[in-house]
Amino acid sequence: MRLLATILFCSACLGGFSQSLPKYLDHTAPIEERVSDALRRMTLEEKVRMLHAQSKFSSAGVPRLGIPELWCADGPHGIRGEVFWDSWDNAGWTNDSCTAFPALTCLAATWRPELAREYGRAIGEEARYRGKDILLAPGVNMLRTPLNGRNFEYLGEDPFLASVMAVPYIQGVQSNNVAACLKHFALNNNEMNRNFSDVHVSDRALREIYLPAFKAGVQQGGAWAVMPSYNLFENRHACENPRLIKDILKKEWGFDGITVSDWGGVHDTDKVLDGGLDLEMGTGTDGLRADMNAYDTYHMANPYLERLRDGRAPEEELDDHVRRVLRTIFRTSMSPSHWKGRFTCPEHYATARRIGAEGIVLLKNNGALPISDKKKKILVVGENAVKMLTIGGGSSSLKAQKEVSPLEGLRNALGGKAEVDWERGYIGAGSVVYNNVKSKDYDLLSETRDSLRLVADALEKAKTADLVIFVGGLNKEDYQDCEDKDRISLNLPYGQDGLIEALAAVNPNVVVVNISGNPVAMPWADKVSAIVQDWYLGSEAGNSLADVLTGAVNPSGKLPFSVPYRLEDTPAWGERRYPGIKRAGSNIHDIHYDEDILIGYRWYDTKDIPVRFPFGYGLSYTGFDIGKPVVTRTADGYSLRVDVSNTGKMAGAETVQVYVSAPRQKGLLRERKKLVGFSKIDLAPGETRGVSIDIPFSSLAYYDEDTASERIVKGKYVFSVGSSSADLPHKITVKYD
Ligand code: BGC
Repeated sequence: MRLLATILFCSACLGGFSQSLPKYLDHTAPIEERVSDALRRMTLEEKVRMLHAQSKFSSAGVPRLGIPELWCADGPHGIRGEVFWDSWDNAGWTNDSCTAFPALTCLAATWRPELAREYGRAIGEEARYRGKDILLAPGVNMLRTPLNGRNFEYLGEDPFLASVMAVPYIQGVQSNNVAACLKHFALNNNEMNRNFSDVHVSDRALREIYLPAFKAGVQQGGAWAVMPSYNLFENRHACENPRLIKDILKKEWGFDGITVSDWGGVHDTDKVLDGGLDLEMGTGTDGLRADMNAYDTYHMANPYLERLRDGRAPEEELDDHVRRVLRTIFRTSMSPSHWKGRFTCPEHYATARRIGAEGIVLLKNNGALPISDKKKKILVVGENAVKMLTIGGGSSSLKAQKEVSPLEGLRNALGGKAEVDWERGYIGAGSVVYNNVKSKDYDLLSETRDSLRLVADALEKAKTADLVIFVGGLNKEDYQDCEDKDRISLNLPYGQDGLIEALAAVNPNVVVVNISGNPVAMPWADKVSAIVQDWYLGSEAGNSLADVLTGAVNPSGKLPFSVPYRLEDTPAWGERRYPGIKRAGSNIHDIHYDEDILIGYRWYDTKDIPVRFPFGYGLSYTGFDIGKPVVTRTADGYSLRVDVSNTGKMAGAETVQVYVSAPRQKGLLRERKKLVGFSKIDLAPGETRGVSIDIPFSSLAYYDEDTASERIVKGKYVFSVGSSSADLPHKITVKYD
């Protein structure tokens, strides 16, 4: 029987039976023909069944036609462990422990798009291996307030940087026939009240700041999926929002993929049908009821079916949704180039380690780094040196096959050369349990000493250490870097600021490693020898960090956000801006983006507000010289060429950044400058090489609300070139007329 089936199948493949093979099963047919053919064979009920969840992470296929289910997975830093069909609890599989890749803030800090492609390719391979069709990633929301608990999942505060990094990530993922799902579309820039925040933003800020990374992801990256977000915009939830989904995404940008609601983001049947969403997920039911399949109560299930049957909902719209779901299936699990993928392989760990090391940003160095061979007695202080940080934080929490802690990484690298001791120093809140997965430090971190004793013990050992490496920062607990709840302070939690100052008072060689996905206040910055901005680096966290601290890797990361001094300095400061004003008689908060286009460095620059560390900043163990740039005008814009030299004794990489300042025009708000191009170059000691950066004319434009289009003002534009947003020694003026 099996032999007969094989013969029939092979003959069909060879063309012998191709006449009788239904078109939708014919892998050689164009996708649109397969979609149309499948669609015309489906009943109304089968069509509707495809448009809502059938479990926590899947939607139904058409078993009668052999069309498979669609499976989604978080994202964005690794493939989430399996949960039960109907509940969020860990399903207890033993073969789903993934490679944890660095958080997307770290990827942004590499400023190297090729690494984003490698990241996407690797995580896509893991998704494919695990049978996932849609990876719920990347997250491209802008960092508007440093209190947003989910900034670690995003790509920083600049729309251009986020766009340039998101595009290759998407392409890498999709090269495995796994759909990348851009999220959270749009304006989901804080977690507090995320389901009931109505964002008021100018069209200009929407177009210039909050949409570009989505647009680039769709149009340049070719993303096959987009996830509308939880918040409201123009008094409509994003998942039910016709302006966002129908007008901007589908009509204006020509998006032909699938929109997948954020889990539980749909609230109203008529509104969601009017809004244009294709797939409803996570709407408040935990599975089966005694009398029926509870998924049938979803807005896009029976209530939709009723409206179709009695003519209240048009069938053309239904068919458009189904086409998009089918297209996704033919692009992924039913694609001819569909392969098995790879999981937790050495190559993926190597990718994670490399991206981790390349994203680490050296913020200050008085010569304490790289760790010299003379440092024989090293004391590591801080909970984050041992705490598992792949668990927690919300939906991005991972069940990682391994996680090398900073302490372990340092011991791996320095073992034999130096004695590496550890003191906890402070107690952070709890130790995360997420989806019943306990972090491995859960028991390790049970503590009998009180806070005073912990500090005293750390200081005692610090007095005699050759080098103190403090590894602290935020973590993935509630109110830290965590979904659903924002941070409550810019300062480090758990008394770490005081502890760092105390360590610096007893030892002149204190290196602070801050692990976070957000900027933190650093009141002790002038008192310590070195500061390293580390991130949630995943499986190879400790090895990546040790690579940089020991000098095996020369740091080359640059900040994807500004580090302000105080919360009061930040653009979304003030109740009206964040967390918004509670609407009378309603649970909705109105958030006003009064700062308009001025977020991140655009705000600090334009308002002359000093920051601790500027956007784009990061040191190296070598030195660089950026020569005098030359700009030529091309048919599409400008081409900038500049020589970069490594003036030191160690191989390293420098990122040349180009910002543009527009001519002033009365009544028109302009940021002092904005990033329009960058290029990262690797240089051997003493080497000089040129880099070219293309700047299209569109980089000079602003969004004109009157004409609802981009407009370029005539006049003189200044390109500033250098190594960070605050170190731009070269200025070139061009005339646009
Ligand atoms: C998050 C999404 C995530 C989804 C599924 C939601 O709570 O906002 O980012 O993909 O859950 O886990």
